[in-house]
Amino acid sequence: MNTITTALKTETDYRVASHNHFIIRDDSIDYGKKTEISHDRTCSCGPTNINCMSAKEWLKSQIGVWQFFYESRDVRDKNLHPATFPISLSRKIIELFSHQGELVLDPFVGSGTTLIAANDTGRNSIGFDLQKKYIDLCETRLQQGDLFNNSRQLAIQDDAHNAVKYIDKETLSLIWTSPPYSNLLNRVRKNKSPRDRNNEQLGRVEQYSQDPRDLGTMPIDSYTKTMGDIFETLLPLLRFKAHCVINVPDMWWENQRITIHVSLIEELRRRGYELRNIIIWDRTNLVNKIGIFGWPSNYITMGVTFEYLLDFWRPPIHNC
Ligand SMILES: C[S@@+](CC[C@H](N)C(=O)[O-])C[C@H]1O[C@@H](n2cnc3c(N)ncnc32)[C@H](O)[C@@H]1O
Repeated sequence: MNTITTALKTETDYRVASHNHFIIRDDSIDYGKKTEISHDRTCSCGPTNINCMSAKEWLKSQIGVWQFFYESRDVRDKNLHPATFPISLSRKIIELFSHQGELVLDPFVGSGTTLIAANDTGRNSIGFDLQKKYIDLCETRLQQGDLFNNSRQLAIQDDAHNAVKYIDKETLSLIWTSPPYSNLLNRVRKNKSPRDRNNEQLGRVEQYSQDPRDLGTMPIDSYTKTMGDIFETLLPLLRFKAHCVINVPDMWWENQRITIHVSLIEELRRRGYELRNIIIWDRTNLVNKIGIFGWPSNYITMGVTFEYLLDFWRPPIHNC
């Protein structure tokens, strides 16, 4: 018996489950329409607190290098989705930058990890993805989660450019996402690392799609401009002083370091965001074996061992 049928025993269970999360595909009647999803706090924290954390939890989060482990609910199968982040990372960002009951947006939701973490922590969330297969995956994962809290999770099959059609101004408390990393995945994997040699991804392109709207098909310049265009439309949806956290690595291309994080910082600043923090996601605990690259003449750090968590906010109007 699978987890879904175990969790849903009665007809009422099914109704509660579908009430808790909804899916909009490009053939739904709700496609392109404003959503009715709550964004008000349900906790009793002070009005200026940015989260529900205790001082002790806050203290731990001040360290600027973070590590996480995957858990059994995480999607690790690259045939299902090639690039997921851990639920534990998503949970940490959501708990740091929002309150219970508030609304979180992931404009590039993929397998739905942000929605799962929002559900776990009692936040409402909306996620967008171009691909029906990933929205279907979000649905499957949500059905397996905690169905009986009062939060709502919504996965929408649409271009992130259109998020503004669904969400009211100043209702978001957090944007949290891992966008495609420019065209990093849009190439055939070569036989360079021990991981690739023993793995079925060798010789494959792991990219999400070849849809021209997919940011993963774009070289760095058009990628940066498109990210700027999307995030400019998202800025008015954020409350003032609400955070926007973006997870990206840099990449190597023909022996040049492509500094995706620098391009995004500069672009988002131009579009009205203010950079608050750069956190390093230390992935060394997740990397099993690393091949030797560049020795003995060409030193490069391995992109797989760390990524950036770029923390911006919508600046206050004056000093409110
Ligand atoms: C790095 S993945 C996100 C993975 C996600 N954090 C997870 O844990 O599953 C980026 C996603 O962005 C989607 N995507 C690319 N271009 C898009 C666009 N213009 N609008 C919406 N989604 C897009 C891709 O289909 C892909 O699933």
